Amino acid sequence: MTRRLIAGNWKMNGLRGDGTQLAGDLADRLATEQPNCELLVCPPFTVMADVADAIDGSGIALGGQDCHQKMTGAFTGSVSAAMLADMGCRYVIVGHSERRHGLGETDATVLAKASAAQMAGLIPIVCVGETADQRDAGQALPVVTEQVLGSVPDAHGGLVVAYEPVWAIGTGRVPTMEDVAAVHAAIRKVLRDARPRGSDALILYGGSAKPENAAEILAVEEVGGLLVGGASLKPDQFWAIAASCD
Ligand code: PGA
Repeated sequence: MTRRLIAGNWKMNGLRGDGTQLAGDLADRLATEQPNCELLVCPPFTVMADVADAIDGSGIALGGQDCHQKMTGAFTGSVSAAMLADMGCRYVIVGHSERRHGLGETDATVLAKASAAQMAGLIPIVCVGETADQRDAGQALPVVTEQVLGSVPDAHGGLVVAYEPVWAIGTGRVPTMEDVAAVHAAIRKVLRDARPRGSDALILYGGSAKPENAAEILAVEEVGGLLVGGASLKPDQFWAIAASCD
């Protein structure tokens, strides 16, 4: 099995000193103990240069939380995949629900961003996931399937998909392990059937992952790692989650 990925999505948190401290703490721990996974941190853009310095040579990967779909141009306020690659990023999150639902990003936009990421040599982490209403209506699998078909590129290049039920993000609620298994199996099937070049992509779970539930979630078939929000801001918790990879 490919090495699992434990990714920290710091979201819009932390000033430069906080980011340096958090990243430095993780790098120090990694110098003496190696969890059985790849570690990734996705800080805000303003903190990225400091974090890059703090993790330099540690083996911790750096990632962006979003990128624009174009490489350069008149897009005030945006950051391109090429710029992230230039900063030393290996990954970029695209299509997070806080952008799909909060900022109106469509599958087509997410697809364009993921393609731009691959063209820049980055590995996009394409997020998909149903809302509470969609789950209650029994629509979780079709919704996620449609999102994968609409937002995962059909191209050579690194790829990670993250299943993040919208209702589980930052709420402390997690799906049953049967539901996680069902959605991950459905994503794998869509990739195999419709995205053969990405058929062996890691599929992460995200949404209220924490030390107490990490081992159980990681034991579910087809869960290739975790995308961690809140708990990634606390080094002890993020480390404990990473240590849950056996
Ligand atoms: P959470 O966030 O772990 O705080 O639920 C996950 C995410 O949004 O990626």
